Amino acid sequence: MHADFRSIPTDPASTEALARQGLRYELVGDDVARQDALTQAAARGFYGTELEQAGLDERRPAFAERRTIGVWDDSAADPATPIATVDSWTTPLGMPGGGSLESWAISMVTVAPTHRRRGIARALLEGELRAAIANGTPIAVLTVSESTIYGRYGFGPATWSGELVIDTKRSRWVGPVPAGRVHLVPRASVKEFGPPIEQRARRHGSIAPWDGWWDRQLGLRPSEAGSSRDIRAVRYDDEAGEPQGFAVYRVKDAPVDFTKHPVEVIELVAATDDAYAALWRYLLELDLVHEVVAWQRSVDEPVKWMVADARAVLTRSVTDHLWARILDVPRCLQGRTWQRPGRLVLDVADDLGLAGGRFALEVDAAGTARVTSTDEPADVTLGVAALSSLLLGGASPITMAAAGRLAGEPAAVELLHGMAVTPTPPTLGFWF
Ligand SMILES: CC(C)(COP(=O)(O)OP(=O)(O)OC[C@H]1O[C@@H](n2cnc3c(N)ncnc32)[C@H](O)[C@@H]1OP(=O)(O)O)[C@@H](O)C(=O)NCCC(=O)NCCS
Repeated sequence: MHADFRSIPTDPASTEALARQGLRYELVGDDVARQDALTQAAARGFYGTELEQAGLDERRPAFAERRTIGVWDDSAADPATPIATVDSWTTPLGMPGGGSLESWAISMVTVAPTHRRRGIARALLEGELRAAIANGTPIAVLTVSESTIYGRYGFGPATWSGELVIDTKRSRWVGPVPAGRVHLVPRASVKEFGPPIEQRARRHGSIAPWDGWWDRQLGLRPSEAGSSRDIRAVRYDDEAGEPQGFAVYRVKDAPVDFTKHPVEVIELVAATDDAYAALWRYLLELDLVHEVVAWQRSVDEPVKWMVADARAVLTRSVTDHLWARILDVPRCLQGRTWQRPGRLVLDVADDLGLAGGRFALEVDAAGTARVTSTDEPADVTLGVAALSSLLLGGASPITMAAAGRLAGEPAAVELLHGMAVTPTPPTLGFWF
């Protein structure tokens, strides 16, 4: 493993592939002008607006925390602005059973419209996967703008999330009424007390938020000072006065009927069941509100059992969210707790030749796995993307077999299903 993942040099194969097109593939380094040009390129790549100086300044700390790469075309009219961008960092990924694995998070993948579909994203992605392996990181993760892009590199969808839409005129509270207290607090204070709560609340499927994430969610970035003043925050303290959860939300305008304000929940983070119930109850009982909407929530939220009218709580737009890519099969399979003991030989195909092979997965009564290479006949045959999808416990091997994503005798597939699927779904609550 490298002392610092940021110092891993750019991948030689990708450097060569891009050089053949006259392109320079380079770490951005410490040069502020290069960093700012890369930030502008990424904003342009996602069809964002050109950033003013405040936006560029806010982005700068990320260059110290991440490994950032640009691709430059010296023959372009504006050769200083990269025509492609990517960044990455290592972060713990929550695994079933409460442990975590180091993951290689990838973000900011953009290729300029003038340079699309000539293999630049492929060079970036393959370069990232090889850099992660050089770092000794067993899995790569990302969130995706389009679900058509990353399967070819061995990524599979591994968490799903939905938009929770709650009609508060119908959602009479019948859930628990915890004995602690909900306090209105200044939103900036969430950055002080929030991180340890978030860490305890984090479930499998989530990576750790980074410093800038808190500023983003709390509306603390100076460039958004005007538009974020409507953000409010509450904290739940248990009976002993210990902070156990918080919610960050905004009450939006009600232009026609003052009794019908919509509420947008930006974050609801609860380390205990009591905190979860108290915070949802607070939001659903706000006066002059008719609808509470929360994005990137789990597909199985307990709040739907906490209201008198179950149809008051809709989970809409359920979609894939975190995508995972196993780079080291034994370490990934050993990195989680399995739901049931059993032994299966898995034959894993990997088109990129990074992680494939035949492995015996042996799980004991405590759910602990031992994984060894084997040449025994396979019980289940699957691609690395399918294995990455089921690693976190949110994908059904039975359904995937029905869809042709994995193959095996029904008994082996059912055993894998019983071993892999977790009682609660893996969840990631934000984009990165
Ligand atoms: C998505 C994007 C990065 C692709 O870049 P690119 O350099 O054009 O991609 P490549 O030429 O390397 O394509 C590699 C493969 O992906 C395919 N591909 C690329 N973009 C695709 C897309 N949007 N949908 C489906 N397939 C796509 C290509 O057809 C090619 O397929 P092949 O392996 O079968 O030959 C680029 O279009 C882009 O910047 N889009 C806007 C920003 C964005 O959505 N970024 C992704 C953030 S998660």
